[in-house]
Amino acid sequence: MSNVIAVVNHKGGTGKTTTAINLAAGLTRYSDITSSCLIIDMDPHGSATSTLLGKLDGAPPARSIFDVLRRAITPQDGITSTIYDENIDILPANPSLESMAKTQINDRLAKVVQSLSTSYGWIIIDTPPNLGVLTQNALVAADYALIPTQCSGLAIPTLHQMKTVIEKIQERQNIWLQVMGVLLTQKDGRTPLLKNIRRELSHVYPAANVFKTIITNNIKIEEAPSNSQSIYAYDSGCLGASLYRDWIKKEFLKKHAKLEKAKVEKREALELKKEMEG
Ligand SMILES: Nc1ncnc2c1ncn2[C@@H]1O[C@H](COP(=O)(O)OP(=O)(O)OP(=O)(O)O)[C@@H](O)[C@H]1O
Ligand SMILES: [Mg+2]
Repeated sequence: MSNVIAVVNHKGGTGKTTTAINLAAGLTRYSDITSSCLIIDMDPHGSATSTLLGKLDGAPPARSIFDVLRRAITPQDGITSTIYDENIDILPANPSLESMAKTQINDRLAKVVQSLSTSYGWIIIDTPPNLGVLTQNALVAADYALIPTQCSGLAIPTLHQMKTVIEKIQERQNIWLQVMGVLLTQKDGRTPLLKNIRRELSHVYPAANVFKTIITNNIKIEEAPSNSQSIYAYDSGCLGASLYRDWIKKEFLKKHAKLEKAKVEKREALELKKEMEG
């Protein structure tokens, strides 16, 4: 069964797409769950799509998640392999996806994900910078929400809003959704004291939900997509590669194992409750 991760933050440019791609590539390299990984691009701008398919001229793919969601093709028929070295497939985005942002697609993405869950070890959903239908569908379909956030105090109000949306979805549509964590990105020399940022963050999420690793600004991270390569393939020895690699190996995979355990315990408790009531 797949592990489904929605990479979310309705603020623009927080490193969602960069993290989704380098997480996917890293998981095929460093996770022993399985080497196969699918990215679903729910952002109509399709930056993950153009990078992973090497179509930097922006030409939209013939078949996309838009066709899958409007039920014109099957999920399997929408998937295409990427040009990355790693074993990553994609259900690409198309600008027409924007039109779905105004429709009620409820749990359609969740059904798509369910139908693919025996084919991939990991499914990573990249989302647009808003809290509309497309992002909400991703959270309804996901097991985990991963929240990349710029290393700035200005990010805090956005995180409060994100938390409220996640909690509503947990209450109403997806009781299995868990917060994987907040990943601080794009730290540079101008970043104020980290201590202060972490303190402000603690008013939104407890420290256990904020990864210790910080992805600093690194030119190689910015360059890799225009070469259609993950950071590990582009320059495995650079700082950006070692930060993403260490985060995945030392934090992400451990957190994932912990949350999986919590999920099993919750399922058992619910089953027991049902038995006692019935
Ligand atoms: N650690 C980093 N070092 C240097 N550049 C980075 C880093 N992380 C992201 N970037 C660059 O910052 C820009 C925004 O990143 P990205 O596209 O991943 O954000 P996003 O949250 O997906 O944006 P959007 O909300 O528009 O979808 C990109 O040009 C990306 O290459
Ligand atoms: Mg993006």
